[in-house]
Parts: sequence; structure tokens; C-alpha cells
Amino acid sequence: MTATWDTIADWYAELLRTGSPLNDFNRDALLAHLPDRLHGLRVLDLGCGEGLITRALAARGATALGIDPTARLIDHARTTATPGPGSAVYTVDDGCVLGTVADRSVDWVTAGLSLNHVPDLDAALTAARRVLKPGGRLVLSLPHPCFEAPHASWTQSADGAVRRVVGAYLAEGFRRSDDPGAVRRAGYRHRTLSTCLTALLRSGFAPEAVDEPAPPAPVVARSPRRAGLPPFLLIRARAPHDPPGSAG
Ligand SMILES: C[S@@+](CC[C@H](N)C(=O)[O-])C[C@H]1O[C@@H](n2cnc3c(N)ncnc32)[C@H](O)[C@@H]1O
Repeated sequence: MTATWDTIADWYAELLRTGSPLNDFNRDALLAHLPDRLHGLRVLDLGCGEGLITRALAARGATALGIDPTARLIDHARTTATPGPGSAVYTVDDGCVLGTVADRSVDWVTAGLSLNHVPDLDAALTAARRVLKPGGRLVLSLPHPCFEAPHASWTQSADGAVRRVVGAYLAEGFRRSDDPGAVRRAGYRHRTLSTCLTALLRSGFAPEAVDEPAPPAPVVARSPRRAGLPPFLLIRARAPHDPPGSAG
């Protein structure tokens, strides 16, 4: 059976519940780009999965809205307790459309490891811009496009050090891992760094911060060869003050 997000949803939810240092690191690296206090702010978590990031937003006081097209993951998210003082509501929706979210209704959009799954990056960024209030911010994280490209692998050099082999960096498009233990068995979209940045700029977002954090000790302890390479690329970008489609 071909794996999809629906068929791996239970496995993914269990993976995160039992503690995934890499996903926890991604959540924390992404949240480092938001204010500590989100009281009174509405935050859309695009591609929320089972709610790992959405819950952390609620814990900072946000009125958090988690959307994801994978109904089974939304079911999991709804069964988890929401830490106060904020709140979390979960809805099945497509990040390329955001049909359940009103125009100019949220202060922040987070997209943690989800835009590399949307089929149309331009559509997702346009939707994010539409729902953001003027001047609102998007914080996204992606598996690092340079180091997590298709066919990226590891090799041991003569000095014994394990080094990353880049892989097919320029081969953009949909891929599926044949590793039965990999998240990527459900498929993912590889896009180059320039494709991602150009799409962001084309959608009118102004990048404010670009981040390639080093993996922390728990990630390296689980996977020592990850030391010295950033597994994720993070970008914080500001939406313009003018509405989509207006001149300038
Ligand atoms: C690696 S998971 C990340 C989930 C969550 N943000 C986290 O950090 O655990 C990727 C998520 O992207 C979602 N996804 C796939 N297609 C999407 C789309 N068109 N719009 C929004 N999310 C999508 C999947 O259902 C999945 O929940």
C-alpha cells in the first residue's frame, strides 16, 4: 500500500508523543522567532499535524488555529490537552486554500515542516498572505533544502569522519522515500533554496530573519552524524501593509 499522510498519521502522532528530539528542536527553533507572550494574538498553524506547534502557541497565550488536510492527524490533535493560558482549535483545511480562515484575521502564521508538503507553494504563500493582518508575520521551517535533498546520504571519509553527501539538489518535485521508517515515505516536495525564497518574495513577503540553527545535544545524541549541519532552514517574513493584488 502506498503511504500517505492519512495512512501514517497514527505512526506520526505516536512518534511525536513518545518524544522526537528532531521535531521538538524544530518546534523550539520556530518558536524562537515569535514573541514569548502571544496573549490576545491569533496564530494560524498551517499544516499543524497532531498539534505539536499549535499546543506550544497556546502555551504562550495565543488563540491558536491549527489547520491540516489530514483528517486523521486533526483527530489526534483534538484529543490532546491544550495547555493554557491560550486556546487551540483544529480544522481540516488545505494550506493552499485556507478556505476556513477569513481574510486579514490572524496576527501570525506558523508553518513548521509543512510547506515542503504542499503541492503549490505559491498558492500556500498567497493564502497565508490573505489571512494575515497587514504587517503580520509568517514563520516557516523546512528540512534544509541543501542538506535534505533527494538522495542525500552519508559517507565515511578516510579520517573516519561521517560527512553528508548532498544528493540531487536541483531535482525539484515530488519524491517518496522507500524507507519504511521515514516520514518521507508519505511523500514530500523538494524545492531549491532559490525557488523557496523567490516564491516568498513573489508573494509579497519581506524576509526579516533567516536561521540555520545547529542541532542541540538531544538531536546529536540520537544521531551523532547530524553534528555540524543544520537540519532545518527557518525564515521569518513580514506581510506587506497593502492588500494582495494592489499595485506596488
Ligand atoms: C512533517 S508534518 C509537520 C506537522 C507539524 N507542523 C509538526 O511540526 O509536527 C507535515 C504536515 O504537512 C501536512 N500537509 C500536507 N499537505 C498539506 C497541505 N496541502 N496544506 C497544509 N498542510 C499539509 C501533513 O498533513 C502533515 O501534517
